[in-house]
Amino acid sequence: MSSISIIGLGSMASALADRSLAGGHAVELIGRDPAKAKELAAALGAATVGTVDAAPAGDIVILAVPYGSAAAVVSAYGDALRGKVIVDVTNPVNADFTGFVTPEGSSGAQEIAQSAPADAHVVKAFNTLYANVLAAGPAEGRPLDVFIAGDDAQAKARVSAFIESLGLRPMDTGQLPMARTLENAALLMLGLVAHSVNHTNFFLGVSILS
Ligand SMILES: NC(=O)c1ccc[n+]([C@@H]2O[C@H](COP(=O)([O-])OP(=O)(O)OC[C@H]3O[C@@H](n4cnc5c(N)ncnc54)[C@H](OP(=O)(O)O)[C@@H]3O)[C@@H](O)[C@H]2O)c1
Repeated sequence: MSSISIIGLGSMASALADRSLAGGHAVELIGRDPAKAKELAAALGAATVGTVDAAPAGDIVILAVPYGSAAAVVSAYGDALRGKVIVDVTNPVNADFTGFVTPEGSSGAQEIAQSAPADAHVVKAFNTLYANVLAAGPAEGRPLDVFIAGDDAQAKARVSAFIESLGLRPMDTGQLPMARTLENAALLMLGLVAHSVNHTNFFLGVSILS
């Protein structure tokens, strides 16, 4: 069992909290509106509520806020995130979903990592799973793939174990700069929603042929 703090109270936070509780983890919900945090915790059952001005309790801290807020949230916590594994689920896409708001050659995860303490480890994960798909869990007998990227092998191993405990399949894609590719994969998914699939009830996965 791990101790997980989730920052944000929206659809990704709710789906991740629900699956984490089902996986037997201790879950702390952190939002800027304490009443909303308490309401979500009550709806989920066993989650506790943290506050934005106290250090997150979890060893794994999931950033489930819009990309535009993520670096500021990490900076505001400062040294309170020392030694934590920070899971970045954000997608730094622009308003019309045609590109990114991040500097050319960088990624949201790399930008967030620059705001984190040096001994915290950012792992990109979950950004290619729609919240509704994550909430519903494994589909038609197929595991849901969770692509991850990060520089620290131990942090990735912990996130991989966490993902497995949720009944999902971790797929390591490499070092943190691969987050750029994972964010492009999210852009691909948005393009599919807009131009061909027309809904979000699908996921990107790997079919390994024997
Ligand atoms: N939805 C998806 O299917 C999906 C899939 C993959 C990745 N993502 C990524 O996951 C992240 C969250 O998406 P979402 O759909 O869950 O968004 P959402 O439903 O809009 O929820 C965002 C949450 O972030 C909170 N928040 C915003 N700024 C904050 C701050 N400065 N401090 C603390 N909390 C803050 C909001 O608080 P308030 O309630 O107070 O406004 C809200 O609870 C985004 O980066 C998104 O790109 C989403």
